Amino acid sequence: MAPPSAVPGADEPWGLVDDGGLLVEDGMLRWVGPCHALPPELAERIAQQVALEGALVTPGLIDCHTHLVYGGHRAREFELRLCGASYEDIARAGGGIRATVTATRVATDAALYRAAADRAATLMAEGVTTIEIKSGYGLSEEHEARCLRVARRIARQLPVTVRTTALAAHAVPHEYAERPDAYIDAACQWLTRWQGEGLVDAVDAFCDQIAFTPAQVQRLFEAARALGLPVKLHAEQLSNQHGAALAAHFGALSCDHLEHLDDAGVAAMAQAGTVAVLLPGAYYFLRETRCPPVAALRAAGVPIALATDHNPGSAPGLSLLLMLNMACTFFRLTPEEALRGVTVHAARALGLGATHGMLRAGAAADFVLWNVGSPAELAYWFGCNPCLRVVRAGVETHQGAPS
Ligand code: NIG
Ligand code: FE
Repeated sequence: MAPPSAVPGADEPWGLVDDGGLLVEDGMLRWVGPCHALPPELAERIAQQVALEGALVTPGLIDCHTHLVYGGHRAREFELRLCGASYEDIARAGGGIRATVTATRVATDAALYRAAADRAATLMAEGVTTIEIKSGYGLSEEHEARCLRVARRIARQLPVTVRTTALAAHAVPHEYAERPDAYIDAACQWLTRWQGEGLVDAVDAFCDQIAFTPAQVQRLFEAARALGLPVKLHAEQLSNQHGAALAAHFGALSCDHLEHLDDAGVAAMAQAGTVAVLLPGAYYFLRETRCPPVAALRAAGVPIALATDHNPGSAPGLSLLLMLNMACTFFRLTPEEALRGVTVHAARALGLGATHGMLRAGAAADFVLWNVGSPAELAYWFGCNPCLRVVRAGVETHQGAPS
């Protein structure tokens, strides 16, 4: 039982509950509210009481867009960009995503797992209890499946909820050079088999001049729809391809990046209930200057989420809390919007809106205790980790350094 807690989704600003308590049963929240209001019939059921000692409590954080499974790194490309090469120049010259594909294909399953599990553990130490993990660096049936299996293994071996996303349509691999349509045809076939093996929770694509056209994305989304798989899209990151409107037409869970999103795209997302996932780490690392249209998204009532986009090319960072700070400083989100962006709205971007990202009866008992006095501090501090304790599915999974 404990003090002020932030419950994104509640009506009050921040959804703060003073002297709050959480009743956990079978990994779920059975009751949440001010301690004095706990109904006596529920009080009788308490088998064990834990004092939360004045800590702020939030839902477990959700990183709803990561590319956690890959081999190698791209520090050399970072150096090249510092000498003036652009991200697109490097990609067109065969570097970029394709360089990581080469490194991923030669990595063993064990090496891919070890590196991805270490990355997941770093995120989890900051209060992350749910992670979306995309494939996208295998780009063949075998290697994409290997990466998706690594993601599933993380869910089995670490105390974290994982949602997998098949991102075979991330780039055209060299075997299909100049034949992107044939590659999309192949990827549509792979989806059926991956789904049969239980490897896929959603389907994603990269819609851009250096990746796939809207027409190609549409064919992939039709295959996903035929399999009953939800879709999401890397949309309008480097240019406006009108991908967000296309994705919204397919009822996409989310469109991600969105620096070049236009008004028609905003309207289509609002109508479809598609979440806008903003990725300030990629904006920062690629030294973008054009911000996503936050005011238009807000005005249209599009839910805004935030994620690390962890990947070796455009966002090699592993701090979701830093994304809160960057979203406020770069994109002018309020700290409250930023916290909702990694809780309630991030859950929705993964199709987990009914069970995750909120502290309320019936939700998963995923929550974090923070060594801060007010929730705005979660977006304010950077380069430090105020996470005290993490509980996931009712079980304590992490204790930070004692304060
Ligand atoms: O989300 N935009 C496409 N995909 C990744 C970057 C991939 C890479 O550069 O390796 C992203 O930014
Ligand atoms: Fe991404």
